[in-house]
Amino acid sequence: MRMYDIIERKKRGNALTEEEIQFVVAGYTDGSIPDYQVSALLMAIYFQGMSLEETAKLTMAMAQSGDMIDLSPIEGIKVDKHSTGGVGDKTTIVLAPLVAAAGAKVAKMSGRGLGHTGGTIDKLESFKGFKVEMPETDFFEQVNKHHIAVVGQSGELAPADKKLYALRDVTATVDNMSLIASSIMSKKIASGADAICLDVKCGTGAFMKDLKDAKALASAMVDIGNHVGRHTMAVVSDMNQPLGYAVGNALEVIEAIETLKGNGPEDLTLLSITLASHMLVLARICHNLEEAKHRIQEVIEDGTAIAKLQEWISLQGGEKEAVLDYSLLPTAQFKSEVILEKTGYVASIDAEAVGRAALVLGAGRETKESNIDLAVGIIIHKKIGDEVKAGEAVATIYYNDKEKLQSAQSILVNAYDLTTTKVHKPNLIYEIVGV
Ligand code: URA
Repeated sequence: MRMYDIIERKKRGNALTEEEIQFVVAGYTDGSIPDYQVSALLMAIYFQGMSLEETAKLTMAMAQSGDMIDLSPIEGIKVDKHSTGGVGDKTTIVLAPLVAAAGAKVAKMSGRGLGHTGGTIDKLESFKGFKVEMPETDFFEQVNKHHIAVVGQSGELAPADKKLYALRDVTATVDNMSLIASSIMSKKIASGADAICLDVKCGTGAFMKDLKDAKALASAMVDIGNHVGRHTMAVVSDMNQPLGYAVGNALEVIEAIETLKGNGPEDLTLLSITLASHMLVLARICHNLEEAKHRIQEVIEDGTAIAKLQEWISLQGGEKEAVLDYSLLPTAQFKSEVILEKTGYVASIDAEAVGRAALVLGAGRETKESNIDLAVGIIIHKKIGDEVKAGEAVATIYYNDKEKLQSAQSILVNAYDLTTTKVHKPNLIYEIVGV
């Protein structure tokens, strides 16, 4: 088989065979096929597209290029949730104990944050002593016994995707739906879950800014997952403003805890209940969505969900008392209000800018090596549709380094757009795909 012929065939619009796709993925991963030939193939794919069969084959070839996690020592259906990334997205910390309390098994590997979106693993480290690594046998045992474990990603998941993504980034071939969908799904499939619930974010703070694209990505990923035998569905949700009010690690943990206690923000609560209910159906704990929603409400109201959070934190070595006493979580030394000298209604909030302001304060990583400050961040007071009076605070900044305050302030002031006419609050859930 020659790489030249594969490029030529795709250039002419032919569907690639499984052998050809495996040849490309294996050859690129081991370095025997050079960047320039793979770049040419990517551009041919960009213009000619790929069928569902080709996309699923590419996904599996990338997934199998590294470690494939085997979760079979855990009994029952293992359901995972994946968010395409958003600002203030702390849903995993709400969902994991919620779904576990309702009877499903959560065996999750999560990532650290990079850039303007935070990572679950960083947030969890807000609990003093919380361990994000454990031997595989302990992980299985904890999930079998207690239904919940969340650890950092270990091993090498889909190394072919890592290399291909880096190449796409410099060859203007990132924004192809088949390539994006296969890239995300290869990592999810390698993580081992039987069923996958996707949260595809759409808006200013998301990778997909446009609803049409977000829906297309959701459909493409659902199709791939189901095609390769992983029961998959997706929720397309709004990311035109941060989710909830808190942005920054420990601040987001407090908001997640409040949500499990039944006092969370409306949007975070709705999204958490929606995703958790779908996860219960995927895990076959509940027969239908109605029953699942009822079950989720029940575990929030009777305190089982918050008790499961405490149990989980404690099992992984964390200080569970922090669930009731927030002074045990990292706390910033200073706070400062963000004031707009205008009156009006919030028309839009640049969610990515809010994430950037948190990053500037030290809540996120500029590079993989950066240290983060778990205490700092932003609490938003005004969201889209809210009325603002001149001189009123739209947000509060929690910070430790005075030199960073000015820059975060000006990013946040510019993130808000006010209008004089009333504005409708945006929908949170745009579409459910694949059920
Ligand atoms: N995120 C990924 O993991 N892959 C893509 O191609 C785009 C976003």
